[in-house]
Amino acid sequence: ETVEWEADAAEKAGYEHYMRKEIHEQPTALRQTLSGRVDVDRARVDLDVSFPEALLERIEEVQIVACGTSYYAGRYAARLIESFADVRTTVEIASEYAFGAGRDPDRTLTIAVTQSGETADTLGAIRRADSAGARTLAVTNTLGSSVTRAVDDAVFIRAGPEIGVAATKTFASQVTTLALLAVALGRERGTLSASRARSVLENLRGLPGAVQQALDAEADVVAAAEQYRDEDAFFFLGRDLGVPVALEGALKLKEIAYDHAEGFPAGELKHGPLALVTDRTPVLAVLTEGGSPAETMTNVTEAQTRGADAIGCVSADREFGTLDVAFEVPDVGLLEPLVANVYFQLFAYHVANEKSRAIDKPRNLAKSVTVE
Ligand code: G6P
Repeated sequence: ETVEWEADAAEKAGYEHYMRKEIHEQPTALRQTLSGRVDVDRARVDLDVSFPEALLERIEEVQIVACGTSYYAGRYAARLIESFADVRTTVEIASEYAFGAGRDPDRTLTIAVTQSGETADTLGAIRRADSAGARTLAVTNTLGSSVTRAVDDAVFIRAGPEIGVAATKTFASQVTTLALLAVALGRERGTLSASRARSVLENLRGLPGAVQQALDAEADVVAAAEQYRDEDAFFFLGRDLGVPVALEGALKLKEIAYDHAEGFPAGELKHGPLALVTDRTPVLAVLTEGGSPAETMTNVTEAQTRGADAIGCVSADREFGTLDVAFEVPDVGLLEPLVANVYFQLFAYHVANEKSRAIDKPRNLAKSVTVE
């Protein structure tokens, strides 16, 4: 027993939980994800996948299938793929995926996003795409996993092992890998200019440092978690690239703190959820580049008018003076919502920690769900 406990403590490298260790590993994980894959000068990306050239030209639809946190990574990436590669991109919850009529398999690339590579729903979906004749790609953290054997090509996110049930560093590495893929597709299809590609790649290179700056501000997040730990519910708001981050932020709180949390596209607040807002339901908002900050702030104000406190992740060059708590996000362009996500991870972690939850192994949940 004692020996096992010591081995476990050693694995956690001084952290009380794997989850906090993994949150703090993100700068390193992201450097590994990017390592050797980015050529800023030539505005090129090398992901070690060589699609047949004709395939890229003829692709008319990209489909992403995934579950849980990987699904939100897919939602973030879909926007980047559409914008850089000018190709219609759909994201589907793997357990809901059906290769529908009207889609041309010959012109479809289906991407399974799965940290473990073993999620039954995701394997089922990618196999359906394969049988329908689509080109298939896996984006995964796990070498030799089942998904890698079910697809035409695989790209590894290289985040290193993730033990905590709640996914953290793998989300950042998934979005980063898919952002590289979006740039690669855009360059090869001729839809992304070299100068725009360079600026995205520069931002990707700046991401590990930007995430480190958020981690260095952890004490401010601890203070917010102490202040808001006992509220009735938490509403996460975002627009554009802030939407998947709002959804992921709410998922983290549900998973590890067992608190009622929901994420919304900020503009939808007034179409229903606003009825739930009181002075006991703080809102957490993504107010950064890539997330239409001014418009989102309008919706945050609607919640504040009903008595809610507002916690915002804000780009370094902006100011929203009326926020109750502001976390600063360094300038990394379209990747800023990904840095906001780090603040949300820390917030969920510290609320859960205040409540002494079983953070690494939340009740009823498994790291990898191998049943459909
Ligand atoms: C489980 C985990 C989640 C994870 C999801 C998808 O539900 O608890 O953290 O996001 O599976 O896992 P995958 O390995 O496919 O990314």
